[in-house]
Amino acid sequence: MKNNLNKNICCIGAGYVGGPTMSVIALNCPEWQVNVVDLNTERINAWNNEDLSKLPVFEPGLETIVKKCRGKNLFFSTKIEENIALADIIFISVNTPTKKMGIGAGYASDLKWIESSARQIAKFSRNHTIVIEKSTLPVKTAETIKTILNSSEHNNSKDLDGTIPTFSIISNPEFLAEGSAINDLQNPDRVLIGGEDDYSINLISDIYKNWIDPEKIITTNLWSSELSKLVANAFLAQRISSINSISALCESTGANINEVAKAIGTDSRIGGKFLKPGPGFGGSCFKKDILNLVYLCRYYGLIEVADYWEKVVDINTWQQKRISSLVIKNLFETLTNKKLAIFGFSFKANTNDTRESPSINISKSLLQEGANLNFYDPKVREKDILIEFDEIIKENNVLISDNALKAARGADAILVLTEWEEFKELDWENIFKVMRKPAWVFDSRICLEKKKLKDIGFKVWTLGTT
Ligand code: NAD
Ligand code: UGA
Repeated sequence: MKNNLNKNICCIGAGYVGGPTMSVIALNCPEWQVNVVDLNTERINAWNNEDLSKLPVFEPGLETIVKKCRGKNLFFSTKIEENIALADIIFISVNTPTKKMGIGAGYASDLKWIESSARQIAKFSRNHTIVIEKSTLPVKTAETIKTILNSSEHNNSKDLDGTIPTFSIISNPEFLAEGSAINDLQNPDRVLIGGEDDYSINLISDIYKNWIDPEKIITTNLWSSELSKLVANAFLAQRISSINSISALCESTGANINEVAKAIGTDSRIGGKFLKPGPGFGGSCFKKDILNLVYLCRYYGLIEVADYWEKVVDINTWQQKRISSLVIKNLFETLTNKKLAIFGFSFKANTNDTRESPSINISKSLLQEGANLNFYDPKVREKDILIEFDEIIKENNVLISDNALKAARGADAILVLTEWEEFKELDWENIFKVMRKPAWVFDSRICLEKKKLKDIGFKVWTLGTT
């Protein structure tokens, strides 16, 4: 064990989790130096940009914290080896996407970035280092990390002072949601710390206790912690698929999905959160984490359990298909050469992240029907929209506008796919004037006033209502 701490934290991975999480640790633990490292130079340069509006992650409240801590006890750098060597504690916060090929393709997590991080740690760390799994991982990954860390052939630091580096592994999954990451990190429902030795569990707990009520810190064994993260995401996503499945039934029966959600959500056993119907869940994690859970269940021979959880993803895919199909149906069954405006490309409001956004699949289906799409999103960069349609782009079938009115000009329909606050405040009368008639609004987020739009003259479809 290390007696003399350098009070130095290194985080490998400066993404949506690493950047905000380390910023909040730096803010609350001024006596610790926090170095966030990444092999992506462009990303690190963006984290170091003088202009804080150019940070690579948009999160309300993040700029203020970076402004306060950057250059004092928060640093962003590509010097991975150097910062690993200095660290008492290393958070691994790299990406763990679904495998695209090989065994488990389409289900299992691709752990190549985890493995390369572990190999770098094994090679460059000194003395005793606590290695923390911050990424979301299949249960038992700590076993793999331990094996890599303890294979001394990778270590070149033992010759410096003759001591062989040692390691403890902790699982400390992150539960932040994008768009509210800073608030989630400052005021989490709980912090989960899974580990095997008291020294490491206590040291990590003490860091969090700088701003979090000790009663909210839950300690478990490693495997419970790894599994709890996958299960938490599966339960959250399950609620969305449940309410979305009922949205379709509301449209068939005359019930109203918001009324149903309220009626069931006021039962304290059910609870009102995560019952918001929409175009299906997006984001980089829900789908990949459920598929990973499905893979694990199949691996352990639990076929019925695997099939049960896979249905959550199936309903999500179906909801997206259902929305594009009903748009096509309402526009006289043909979209050839029709213009449609897509309002919103991020997977939810208040983030610039587009990973697995429902807008992607819904837009692709419309493009395949011959539509020309004009996108407007307040935060997503043009190149992040274009990259999704590489294979379908033809002349003028994918355009990006810098405001909603421009995107709607000449369009037959507007699809609202992200619930950005500003969509409620738009000048809908003006928008109506510049569209071809009949002018449709398809509100998949139930965020607009149906009656007001109808009074203007729009034809309106609102999810989960008749
Ligand atoms: P991300 O893709 O935004 O960031 C990961 C970063 O790691 C990238 O910048 C990449 O360049 C870097 N990286 C990969 N291998 C590296 C290496 N060997 N050395 C240095 N840098 C390396 O991913 P993210 O959204 O931050 O997610 C990270 C993990 O956290 C995932 O496992 C995810 O499931 C989990 N998670 C994400 C969220 C979220 O809201 N995005 C929330 C909770 C948990
Ligand atoms: C989700 C979880 O909420 C976090 O706890 C978790 O840490 C994170 O995944 C992760 O592991 O990556 P995130 O995906 O950032 O966070 O955002 P959510 O607010 O969960 O939304 C996910 C998707 O579900 C979005 O597309 C959102 O629009 C949709 N959603 C959410 C609904 O359709 N209805 C709801 O009621 C809630």
